Amino acid sequence: MKYVIGIDLGTSAVKLLLVSQTGEVVQETAKDLPLMQVKSGYSEQDPNDWMEQTVAGLTELIEAFEGDPAEIEGMSFSGQMHGLVLLDEQEEVLRPAILWNDTRTTEQCKQIYEEMGAKRLHQLAKNPALEGFTLPKLLWVKEHEPEIYEKAATFVLPKDYLRLKLAGTLHMDLSDAAGTLLLDITRQEWSKELCRMFEIDESLCPPLVESHADIGLVKEEIALATGLSPSTRLFAGGADNACGAIGAGILEEGKTLCSIGTSGVVLSYETNGDKDYQGKVHYFNHGAPDAYYTMGVTLAAGYSLSWFKNVFAKKEEFSTLLADVDSVPPGSGGLLFTPYLAGERTPHADAAIRASFIGADGSHERRHFVRAVLEGITFSLKESLELFRSQGKDITEIVSIGGGVKNKAWLQMQADIFNAKMIKLASEQGPGMGAAMLAAYGCGWFESLKACADAFLQEEALYHPDPERVAVYETLFELYRQVYPATAELNKQLAAFRL
Ligand code: XUL
Repeated sequence: MKYVIGIDLGTSAVKLLLVSQTGEVVQETAKDLPLMQVKSGYSEQDPNDWMEQTVAGLTELIEAFEGDPAEIEGMSFSGQMHGLVLLDEQEEVLRPAILWNDTRTTEQCKQIYEEMGAKRLHQLAKNPALEGFTLPKLLWVKEHEPEIYEKAATFVLPKDYLRLKLAGTLHMDLSDAAGTLLLDITRQEWSKELCRMFEIDESLCPPLVESHADIGLVKEEIALATGLSPSTRLFAGGADNACGAIGAGILEEGKTLCSIGTSGVVLSYETNGDKDYQGKVHYFNHGAPDAYYTMGVTLAAGYSLSWFKNVFAKKEEFSTLLADVDSVPPGSGGLLFTPYLAGERTPHADAAIRASFIGADGSHERRHFVRAVLEGITFSLKESLELFRSQGKDITEIVSIGGGVKNKAWLQMQADIFNAKMIKLASEQGPGMGAAMLAAYGCGWFESLKACADAFLQEEALYHPDPERVAVYETLFELYRQVYPATAELNKQLAAFRL
C-alpha cells in the first residue's frame, strides 16, 4: 500500500493525517500552537513553534505507523492564510508572524484605497483591502519597524515557511498568494503595478507555483529527525480554504462549502477568474489548476463558541455545553448574538466592530445563550451566502465541514438558516484531507483532483431545511442584519476603552 501525508497548519493547532491510496485516514495527530495577543487587535505566532510542533507531529505519526516509511510517497500542506512571515538573506525569521486575524492595519488599508482606488484594486487583486491580508501588514512593518523591513529578503505565508524548512526550497502557491493582495488573480502572476504602487520590491515576492507542484524531497536531516524516508516527495500545498474545498469535493461549478473553524467561511467554486464581485466577497485562485472560488469570511466562528466556553464553562466539554441546545426554540427566546469578537470581514469589513448579545432577559438560561451563539455564527455566514445568491448563484446544497458538523442540532440549524440541504461527509477531515489529496494527485495516483475526490469522499447524511423553521429564521435574519448598523458607531467609541 502507498500513503501520503497532509499537514494542516491551522491557528490553534497543526494537524497531520496519514492517508492511504484508498483515501482512508490510517493515522492522525494534532499539536497545539500558542498564540500571542499582546494588544487588542494583535495576533502573532512564532514560526519556530510551527516547525517544532510539525516535526513533533511527524515523528509521532511515523512512530505509530506500522508500515515501511518508504511507502509514504508524498506530503503536502494546507495553511492558515495571509500571515506575514518576513525572512532575511539567510531565510531566518525577522519578527513574529503577523496573522490573518490581526487587525492593526486599518490605516494601511485606507492608504491602499487612497493611493490605488478601489476600482483598480478590484480589477487586479479582485479583493478588498482588508486588515487581515498580507500587503497591509507589509506596509505596517515598513512604517513601524523600518529597521526590520530593510533586512527582509523575502516574505512567505505560514505553510510556505514550514515547507521551506522541511524541503529547503522557497515557493508560494497561487491559492495562498491570492490572499496577499499583490497577486494579479486572473493572470496568475505577481502584479508589477501593485508592487510599484506600494513600493514593494518585487524580489521580496517568492517564486509562484501551482498547489500540486512537486518542489523536491524532504531534507535528509528532517527525515532523520522524524523517521520519514528521504525519498518522500513534497508538493506545494494550498491555502486552508482552498484545501478545505478540495477535501470536501468543491471541484466543479455549483458546489458550495460551509467551513467552521476558528474563522468561518462560505465558499463557492468558480470556473473563471474574471467575474466582477466588486470586492464584496473574497475571490481567490483555487488549489485545483486554473480554477477559482469566491468566499465570505466571518472572523470569529468557532472562536465565538470557544470564547463562550472558556469564559462561562471552562471545565466542561463542548458536547455537554451543546447538549440541550435543541431544547431551545429557534430565536433563542428573543436573544440575538452577533459574532464580532474580533471585528468582521464579510459583509462588514470593520475591524472596530465587536460582538453583542441583544435582548437578554431574566428568563434566559445558559442554554439560550449557547443557542444564540450558534445562531449568530450561522446568520453571519448566511450574510455571505446571500451575497452569492444576489449575484445570481443558485445555492440549494452545501457541504458542511469543521466544528459545525460535530453537533446534529447545529447542522439542522444551518439547513434551516441557509435554506439549503446540508451534506455531511462520511469522513470529514477538512483542509488536511485536501492537502493529502494534493499530494496524491501530485504523486500521479489520479488523473485529476476531481477523480481523487470521487475515490476518497463519500456523503454520509443529508439535512433538509424545514419550511416552518426557514420562515422563522428569515424574520430573525432581518432583525440580525439590523444589529451591525445599530452598534457600529457605539463600538467605534468604545474602542478607546479597549485593553
Ligand atoms: C481567510 C482567512 C481565514 C484563515 C484561517 O481569508 O483569513 O479563513 O485562512 O486560517
